[in-house]
Amino acid sequence: MDDIALARVLHVLAVVLWIGGVSMATTVALPAVRRGVFGPDRLRVFEAFEGRFVWQARGAVILAGLTGFYMVERLDLWDRFADIHFWWMHAMVCVWTLFALLLFIGEPFILHRIFPKWVARNPEQAFSFLHRVHVVLLVLSYITIFGAVAGSHGWLLL
Ligand code: HEM
Repeated sequence: MDDIALARVLHVLAVVLWIGGVSMATTVALPAVRRGVFGPDRLRVFEAFEGRFVWQARGAVILAGLTGFYMVERLDLWDRFADIHFWWMHAMVCVWTLFALLLFIGEPFILHRIFPKWVARNPEQAFSFLHRVHVVLLVLSYITIFGAVAGSHGWLLL
């Protein structure tokens, strides 16, 4: 049974590091960058924050995915995916897939190629969009965490 406990510990630690970072970026760093608190070159400041965090987030996403699927396999939870009461299992996989796509495909191919051009053309609009995307991801993540903690401790909500 200890391997399940270890998988759960690592899963939650990965989620704390990853979503905690998203929360800090969304509610503290991005608003400050948008206001120009760190200087007028907002793109450079944003890239300095983002470049340090992106590898932590990628590592955490990989660890959360591995430990999550390990628990599903070991506890044989596959049939939960056919039951709407376990909507939070679907939510975990959806949020995970969304972040994995953004971090491994969106970040190198869109953020670094298209975003700087958009900032050069219309910085207000570009940063406002980026901030709104972060808010949506953060809200989805919190709903998922709420559902996952409640659900895995017997409170199914639906
Ligand atoms: C590939 C994606 C994922 C899979 C396969 C997965 C799978 C699991 C499984 C099997 C459990 C244990 C459920 C139980 O004991 O009944 C769990 C717990 C949990 N997961 Fe995930 N998960 C994934 C992604 C995520 C994401 C993205 C988040 C957060 C946004 C998340 C947050 C949690 C939380 C908070 C718990 C509850 C821990 C507890 O209170 O014991 N998971 N996950």
